[in-house]
Amino acid sequence: MPNAKIAGMGKYVPERIITNHDLETMMDTSDAWIRERTGIHERRWVEPGRETAATMGVAAARNALKQAGMNEQDVDFIIFATLSPEYTFPGSGCLLGDELGLNGVGALDIRTQCTGFVYALSIADQFIKSGMYKTILVVGGEVQSTALNVSTEGRDVAVIFGDGAGATVLTATEEEGRGILTSNLHADGKYARQLYCEDPGSRGDKRVSHEMIDNGTIYPYMNGRYVFKHAVTRFPEAIMETLAATGYTKDDIDLIVPHQANKRITEAVQQRLDVPSEKVFSNIHKYGNTTAASIPIALTEALEEGRIKAGDLVCTVAFGSGFTWGANLIRF
Ligand code: ACO
Repeated sequence: MPNAKIAGMGKYVPERIITNHDLETMMDTSDAWIRERTGIHERRWVEPGRETAATMGVAAARNALKQAGMNEQDVDFIIFATLSPEYTFPGSGCLLGDELGLNGVGALDIRTQCTGFVYALSIADQFIKSGMYKTILVVGGEVQSTALNVSTEGRDVAVIFGDGAGATVLTATEEEGRGILTSNLHADGKYARQLYCEDPGSRGDKRVSHEMIDNGTIYPYMNGRYVFKHAVTRFPEAIMETLAATGYTKDDIDLIVPHQANKRITEAVQQRLDVPSEKVFSNIHKYGNTTAASIPIALTEALEEGRIKAGDLVCTVAFGSGFTWGANLIRF
Protein backbone atom coordinates (compact mmCIF):
# COMPACT_ATOMS: atom_id res chain seq x y z
CA MET A 1 0.00 0.00 0.00
CA PRO A 2 1.52 3.39 -0.95
CA ASN A 3 1.88 6.23 1.53
CA ALA A 4 1.06 9.89 0.80
CA LYS A 5 4.04 12.20 1.23
CA ILE A 6 4.19 15.98 1.04
CA ALA A 7 6.10 16.78 -2.15
CA GLY A 8 5.67 20.57 -2.09
CA MET A 9 4.09 23.43 -0.15
CA GLY A 10 3.13 26.95 -1.22
CA LYS A 11 1.28 30.00 0.03
CA TYR A 12 -0.24 33.23 -1.20
CA VAL A 13 -1.32 36.16 0.95
CA PRO A 14 -2.76 39.44 -0.34
CA GLU A 15 -0.43 42.46 -0.34
CA ARG A 16 -2.94 44.65 1.50
CA ILE A 17 -1.93 44.78 5.18
CA ILE A 18 -4.55 45.80 7.74
CA THR A 19 -2.96 46.66 11.07
CA ASN A 20 -4.72 46.82 14.41
CA HIS A 21 -4.38 50.60 14.14
CA ASP A 22 -6.30 50.48 10.83
CA LEU A 23 -9.10 48.65 12.67
CA GLU A 24 -9.10 51.37 15.35
CA THR A 25 -10.36 53.76 12.64
CA MET A 26 -13.34 51.47 11.85
CA MET A 27 -14.52 50.36 15.30
CA ASP A 28 -14.05 50.91 19.01
CA THR A 29 -11.03 48.70 19.61
CA SER A 30 -7.34 49.09 20.37
CA ASP A 31 -4.04 47.62 19.25
CA ALA A 32 -3.31 46.71 22.89
CA TRP A 33 -6.62 44.81 23.34
CA ILE A 34 -6.16 42.83 20.13
CA ARG A 35 -2.50 41.96 20.80
CA GLU A 36 -3.17 40.93 24.38
CA ARG A 37 -6.29 38.82 23.72
CA THR A 38 -5.34 37.27 20.36
CA GLY A 39 -1.62 37.85 19.61
CA ILE A 40 -2.55 39.40 16.25
CA HIS A 41 -0.62 42.49 15.05
CA GLU A 42 -1.88 42.62 11.47
CA ARG A 43 -3.75 40.57 8.87
CA ARG A 44 -4.11 40.59 5.09
CA TRP A 45 -7.31 41.55 3.29
CA VAL A 46 -8.01 40.86 -0.38
CA GLU A 47 -8.42 43.47 -3.07
CA PRO A 48 -12.14 42.75 -3.63
CA GLY A 49 -12.99 41.72 -7.17
CA ARG A 50 -9.37 40.85 -7.95
CA GLU A 51 -8.45 38.23 -5.36
CA THR A 52 -10.75 35.35 -4.40
CA ALA A 53 -10.41 32.03 -2.58
CA ALA A 54 -9.72 30.29 -5.90
CA THR A 55 -7.31 32.89 -7.38
CA MET A 56 -5.27 32.89 -4.17
CA GLY A 57 -5.46 29.07 -4.16
CA VAL A 58 -4.12 29.01 -7.73
CA ALA A 59 -1.12 31.14 -6.76
CA ALA A 60 -0.42 28.96 -3.71
CA ALA A 61 -0.85 25.78 -5.80
CA ARG A 62 1.62 26.99 -8.45
CA ASN A 63 4.18 27.66 -5.71
CA ALA A 64 3.58 24.20 -4.23
CA LEU A 65 3.90 22.50 -7.64
CA LYS A 66 7.12 24.43 -8.32
CA GLN A 67 8.57 23.33 -4.99
CA ALA A 68 7.59 19.74 -5.78
CA GLY A 69 9.29 19.97 -9.19
CA MET A 70 5.98 19.11 -10.83
CA ASN A 71 3.56 20.83 -13.18
CA GLU A 72 -0.23 21.06 -13.43
CA GLN A 73 -0.48 17.98 -15.63
CA ASP A 74 0.84 15.80 -12.78
CA VAL A 75 -2.27 16.50 -10.68
CA ASP A 76 -4.87 13.69 -10.61
CA PHE A 77 -7.35 15.24 -8.17
CA ILE A 78 -8.11 18.52 -6.37
CA ILE A 79 -9.34 19.00 -2.81
CA PHE A 80 -10.23 22.56 -1.78
CA ALA A 81 -11.03 23.47 1.82
CA THR A 82 -12.91 26.76 2.26
CA LEU A 83 -15.86 28.30 4.06
CA SER A 84 -15.75 31.32 1.75
CA PRO A 85 -16.25 30.12 -1.84
CA GLU A 86 -16.86 32.57 -4.67
CA TYR A 87 -20.37 31.23 -5.21
CA THR A 88 -22.94 29.35 -3.11
CA PHE A 89 -22.31 26.74 -5.80
CA PRO A 90 -20.22 25.43 -7.50
CA GLY A 91 -17.23 25.11 -5.20
CA SER A 92 -13.88 26.89 -5.44
CA GLY A 93 -12.14 23.63 -6.44
CA CYS A 94 -13.86 23.70 -9.84
CA LEU A 95 -12.74 27.30 -10.43
CA LEU A 96 -9.19 26.51 -9.37
CA GLY A 97 -9.07 23.47 -11.66
CA ASP A 98 -10.18 25.56 -14.63
CA GLU A 99 -7.59 28.25 -13.92
CA LEU A 100 -4.85 25.60 -13.72
CA GLY A 101 -6.00 24.00 -17.00
CA LEU A 102 -7.09 20.85 -15.15
CA ASN A 103 -10.40 20.58 -16.99
CA GLY A 104 -11.88 17.12 -16.39
CA VAL A 105 -9.84 16.49 -13.21
CA GLY A 106 -12.09 15.79 -10.20
CA ALA A 107 -12.46 18.59 -7.64
CA LEU A 108 -13.92 18.24 -4.16
CA ASP A 109 -14.74 21.15 -1.85
CA ILE A 110 -14.50 20.50 1.89
CA ARG A 111 -16.45 22.63 4.30
CA THR A 112 -15.28 21.84 7.78
CA GLN A 113 -14.18 25.42 8.47
CA CYS A 114 -11.03 25.80 10.58
CA THR A 115 -10.53 22.02 10.48
CA GLY A 116 -10.87 21.98 6.68
CA PHE A 117 -7.22 21.39 5.87
CA VAL A 118 -6.86 18.54 8.39
CA TYR A 119 -9.90 16.82 6.84
CA ALA A 120 -8.60 17.53 3.31
CA LEU A 121 -5.18 16.00 4.02
CA SER A 122 -6.79 12.87 5.45
CA ILE A 123 -9.15 12.48 2.48
CA ALA A 124 -6.25 12.89 0.03
CA ASP A 125 -4.27 10.32 2.04
CA GLN A 126 -7.10 7.77 1.72
CA PHE A 127 -7.34 8.27 -2.06
CA ILE A 128 -3.57 7.78 -2.43
CA LYS A 129 -3.42 4.77 -0.09
CA SER A 130 -6.28 3.10 -1.98
CA GLY A 131 -4.37 3.58 -5.25
CA MET A 132 -7.14 5.63 -6.86
CA TYR A 133 -4.94 8.71 -7.34
CA LYS A 134 -1.18 9.26 -7.33
CA THR A 135 -0.85 13.03 -6.96
CA ILE A 136 -3.41 15.30 -5.27
CA LEU A 137 -3.44 19.06 -4.90
CA VAL A 138 -4.80 20.03 -1.47
CA VAL A 139 -5.65 23.71 -1.08
CA GLY A 140 -7.03 25.88 1.72
CA GLY A 141 -8.16 29.36 0.70
CA GLU A 142 -10.27 31.95 2.48
CA VAL A 143 -11.70 35.41 1.99
CA GLN A 144 -12.99 36.42 5.42
CA SER A 145 -12.64 40.18 5.17
CA THR A 146 -15.67 40.86 2.97
CA ALA A 147 -17.97 38.92 5.34
CA LEU A 148 -17.06 40.72 8.56
CA ASN A 149 -19.07 43.33 10.43
CA VAL A 150 -16.30 45.89 10.82
CA SER A 151 -18.36 48.17 13.08
CA THR A 152 -18.04 48.09 16.90
CA GLU A 153 -20.94 45.63 17.01
CA GLY A 154 -18.90 42.98 15.19
CA ARG A 155 -15.51 43.74 16.75
CA ASP A 156 -15.09 40.48 18.70
CA VAL A 157 -15.07 38.52 15.41
CA ALA A 158 -13.76 41.14 12.97
CA VAL A 159 -10.37 41.62 14.62
CA ILE A 160 -9.54 37.90 14.48
CA PHE A 161 -9.89 36.88 10.84
CA GLY A 162 -7.76 37.40 7.74
CA ASP A 163 -7.48 36.27 4.10
CA GLY A 164 -4.99 34.00 2.34
CA ALA A 165 -4.33 30.60 0.81
CA GLY A 166 -1.97 27.67 1.19
CA ALA A 167 -1.47 24.51 -0.83
CA THR A 168 0.28 21.21 -0.73
CA VAL A 169 1.07 18.57 -3.31
CA LEU A 170 0.61 15.08 -1.91
CA THR A 171 2.07 12.23 -3.89
CA ALA A 172 2.34 8.46 -3.55
CA THR A 173 5.54 6.98 -2.12
CA GLU A 174 6.53 3.39 -1.45
CA GLU A 175 8.83 4.54 1.38
CA GLU A 176 7.78 2.93 4.67
CA GLY A 177 7.01 5.29 7.56
CA ARG A 178 7.02 8.42 5.35
CA GLY A 179 4.19 10.90 4.72
CA ILE A 180 0.86 11.00 6.54
CA LEU A 181 1.09 8.35 9.27
CA THR A 182 -2.35 8.81 10.81
CA SER A 183 -5.27 11.26 10.96
CA ASN A 184 -8.27 11.67 13.23
CA LEU A 185 -11.39 13.62 12.28
CA HIS A 186 -14.17 14.68 14.65
CA ALA A 187 -17.35 16.74 14.67
CA ASP A 188 -20.14 17.52 17.13
CA GLY A 189 -23.07 19.45 15.68
CA LYS A 190 -24.50 20.02 19.17
CA TYR A 191 -22.28 23.11 19.15
CA ALA A 192 -23.05 24.23 15.58
CA ARG A 193 -24.59 27.51 16.67
CA GLN A 194 -21.74 28.57 18.97
CA LEU A 195 -19.67 29.63 15.93
CA TYR A 196 -21.64 30.04 12.72
CA CYS A 197 -23.06 32.25 10.03
CA GLU A 198 -26.84 31.98 10.12
CA ASP A 199 -27.76 33.56 6.79
CA PRO A 200 -28.17 33.21 3.91
CA GLY A 201 -29.18 29.55 4.23
CA SER A 202 -31.82 27.12 2.98
CA ARG A 203 -33.84 26.76 6.20
CA GLY A 204 -36.58 29.33 5.69
CA ASP A 205 -38.96 30.35 2.94
CA LYS A 206 -36.46 32.83 1.50
CA ARG A 207 -32.71 32.48 1.03
CA VAL A 208 -32.09 36.20 1.36
CA SER A 209 -34.18 38.97 2.91
CA HIS A 210 -33.81 42.54 4.06
CA GLU A 211 -34.42 41.34 7.64
CA MET A 212 -31.25 39.25 7.50
CA ILE A 213 -29.26 42.37 6.73
CA ASP A 214 -31.15 44.51 9.26
CA ASN A 215 -30.76 41.88 12.02
CA GLY A 216 -27.10 41.25 11.25
CA THR A 217 -27.59 37.49 10.81
CA ILE A 218 -25.48 37.64 7.64
CA TYR A 219 -22.42 38.14 9.83
CA PRO A 220 -20.48 35.39 11.61
CA TYR A 221 -21.48 34.83 15.24
CA MET A 222 -18.96 33.51 17.76
CA ASN A 223 -19.41 32.63 21.42
CA GLY A 224 -15.75 33.45 22.06
CA ARG A 225 -15.39 32.09 25.58
CA TYR A 226 -17.21 28.87 24.72
CA VAL A 227 -15.01 28.34 21.65
CA PHE A 228 -11.90 29.00 23.73
CA LYS A 229 -12.92 26.48 26.43
CA HIS A 230 -13.58 23.68 23.92
CA ALA A 231 -10.56 24.46 21.74
CA VAL A 232 -8.03 24.15 24.56
CA THR A 233 -9.35 20.65 25.34
CA ARG A 234 -9.83 19.36 21.80
CA PHE A 235 -6.42 20.43 20.41
CA PRO A 236 -4.43 18.32 22.93
CA GLU A 237 -6.90 15.42 22.66
CA ALA A 238 -6.49 15.23 18.88
CA ILE A 239 -2.67 15.39 19.17
CA MET A 240 -2.63 12.63 21.81
CA GLU A 241 -4.90 10.52 19.59
CA THR A 242 -2.31 10.60 16.77
CA LEU A 243 0.34 9.43 19.26
CA ALA A 244 -1.84 6.62 20.61
CA ALA A 245 -2.48 5.46 17.03
CA THR A 246 1.21 5.34 16.09
CA GLY A 247 3.05 4.56 19.32
CA TYR A 248 5.08 7.79 19.28
CA THR A 249 5.34 10.03 22.35
CA LYS A 250 4.99 13.81 22.46
CA ASP A 251 8.79 14.06 22.74
CA ASP A 252 9.10 12.42 19.31
CA ILE A 253 7.23 15.30 17.67
CA ASP A 254 9.62 17.85 16.13
CA LEU A 255 6.99 20.51 15.45
CA ILE A 256 3.29 21.03 16.14
CA VAL A 257 1.65 23.21 13.49
CA PRO A 258 -1.73 24.15 14.95
CA HIS A 259 -4.52 25.98 13.19
CA GLN A 260 -3.74 29.63 13.92
CA ALA A 261 -6.93 30.37 15.88
CA ASN A 262 -5.63 32.66 18.56
CA LYS A 263 -2.23 32.99 20.26
CA ARG A 264 -3.75 32.38 23.68
CA ILE A 265 -5.31 29.10 22.52
CA THR A 266 -1.94 27.96 21.10
CA GLU A 267 -0.16 28.88 24.35
CA ALA A 268 -2.75 27.07 26.46
CA VAL A 269 -2.36 23.95 24.29
CA GLN A 270 1.45 24.09 24.60
CA GLN A 271 1.17 24.39 28.39
CA ARG A 272 -1.39 21.58 28.71
CA LEU A 273 0.79 19.27 26.63
CA ASP A 274 3.88 20.46 28.48
CA VAL A 275 6.01 20.85 25.34
CA PRO A 276 8.58 23.64 24.77
CA SER A 277 7.20 26.73 23.02
CA GLU A 278 9.74 26.37 20.17
CA LYS A 279 8.03 23.10 19.25
CA VAL A 280 4.76 24.92 18.48
CA PHE A 281 4.66 27.04 15.32
CA SER A 282 2.92 30.41 15.36
CA ASN A 283 2.54 33.10 12.71
CA ILE A 284 -0.83 34.48 13.81
CA HIS A 285 0.74 37.90 14.54
CA LYS A 286 1.16 38.41 10.76
CA TYR A 287 -2.04 36.96 9.31
CA GLY A 288 -4.70 36.54 12.02
CA ASN A 289 -6.93 33.50 11.69
CA THR A 290 -7.22 32.45 8.05
CA THR A 291 -9.45 29.43 8.80
CA ALA A 292 -8.76 26.54 6.36
CA ALA A 293 -5.74 28.40 4.93
CA SER A 294 -3.92 28.81 8.23
CA ILE A 295 -2.26 25.37 8.48
CA PRO A 296 -0.91 25.23 4.89
CA ILE A 297 0.37 28.83 5.18
CA ALA A 298 2.03 27.92 8.50
CA LEU A 299 3.52 24.68 7.11
CA THR A 300 4.94 26.59 4.14
CA GLU A 301 6.56 29.18 6.41
CA ALA A 302 7.86 26.53 8.81
CA LEU A 303 9.63 24.85 5.86
CA GLU A 304 10.95 28.19 4.54
CA GLU A 305 12.33 29.04 7.98
CA GLY A 306 14.01 25.64 8.35
CA ARG A 307 11.75 24.75 11.28
CA ILE A 308 10.80 21.54 9.41
CA LYS A 309 13.54 19.39 7.88
CA ALA A 310 13.44 16.13 5.93
CA GLY A 311 12.65 13.28 8.31
CA ASP A 312 10.93 15.47 10.94
CA LEU A 313 7.75 14.32 12.66
CA VAL A 314 5.12 17.07 12.40
CA CYS A 315 1.63 17.22 13.88
CA THR A 316 -1.02 19.41 12.24
CA VAL A 317 -4.06 19.98 14.45
CA ALA A 318 -7.22 22.09 14.26
CA PHE A 319 -10.47 23.01 15.97
CA GLY A 320 -13.28 25.14 14.64
CA SER A 321 -16.88 25.73 13.69
CA GLY A 322 -19.11 22.66 13.68
CA PHE A 323 -17.62 22.07 16.18
CA THR A 324 -15.04 20.13 14.19
CA TRP A 325 -11.56 19.06 15.24
CA GLY A 326 -8.81 16.64 14.25
CA ALA A 327 -5.11 16.11 13.58
CA ASN A 328 -2.62 14.55 11.16
CA LEU A 329 0.79 13.12 12.07
CA ILE A 330 3.24 13.49 9.18
CA ARG A 331 6.79 12.26 8.61
CA PHE A 332 8.41 14.79 6.25
N1 ACO B 1 -11.82 45.34 20.99
C1 ACO B 1 -12.05 45.85 22.21
N2 ACO B 1 -12.90 45.29 23.09
C2 ACO B 1 -13.53 44.16 22.72
C3 ACO B 1 -13.33 43.59 21.46
C4 ACO B 1 -12.43 44.22 20.59
N3 ACO B 1 -12.15 43.75 19.36
N4 ACO B 1 -14.09 42.47 21.38
C5 ACO B 1 -14.75 42.36 22.54
N5 ACO B 1 -14.41 43.38 23.35
C6 ACO B 1 -14.88 43.67 24.69
C7 ACO B 1 -16.18 43.02 25.01
O1 ACO B 1 -17.26 43.78 24.54
C8 ACO B 1 -16.14 42.98 26.53
O2 ACO B 1 -16.50 44.22 27.01
P1 ACO B 1 -17.36 44.35 28.40
O3 ACO B 1 -16.49 43.72 29.44
O4 ACO B 1 -17.54 45.81 28.51
O5 ACO B 1 -18.61 43.58 28.15
C9 ACO B 1 -14.66 42.77 26.82
O6 ACO B 1 -13.95 43.13 25.63
C10 ACO B 1 -14.32 41.35 27.17
O7 ACO B 1 -14.95 40.49 26.23
P2 ACO B 1 -14.83 38.95 26.30
O8 ACO B 1 -15.57 38.35 25.14
O9 ACO B 1 -15.17 38.49 27.66
O10 ACO B 1 -13.27 38.83 26.07
P3 ACO B 1 -12.40 37.56 26.11
O11 ACO B 1 -11.32 37.76 27.09
O12 ACO B 1 -13.20 36.31 26.18
O13 ACO B 1 -11.71 37.64 24.68
C11 ACO B 1 -11.90 36.57 22.54
C12 ACO B 1 -12.51 37.57 23.51
C13 ACO B 1 -10.53 37.07 22.12
C14 ACO B 1 -12.78 36.45 21.32
C15 ACO B 1 -11.77 35.25 23.33
O14 ACO B 1 -13.02 34.85 23.83
C16 ACO B 1 -11.22 34.17 22.51
O15 ACO B 1 -10.04 34.15 22.23
N6 ACO B 1 -12.06 33.22 22.13
C17 ACO B 1 -11.70 32.16 21.23
C18 ACO B 1 -12.31 32.46 19.97
C19 ACO B 1 -11.40 32.18 18.83
O16 ACO B 1 -10.22 32.04 18.90
N7 ACO B 1 -12.01 32.12 17.72
C20 ACO B 1 -11.29 31.88 16.56
C21 ACO B 1 -12.18 31.33 15.59
S1 ACO B 1 -12.60 29.73 15.97
C22 ACO B 1 -11.26 28.89 15.73
O17 ACO B 1 -10.53 29.18 14.85
C23 ACO B 1 -11.02 27.84 16.64
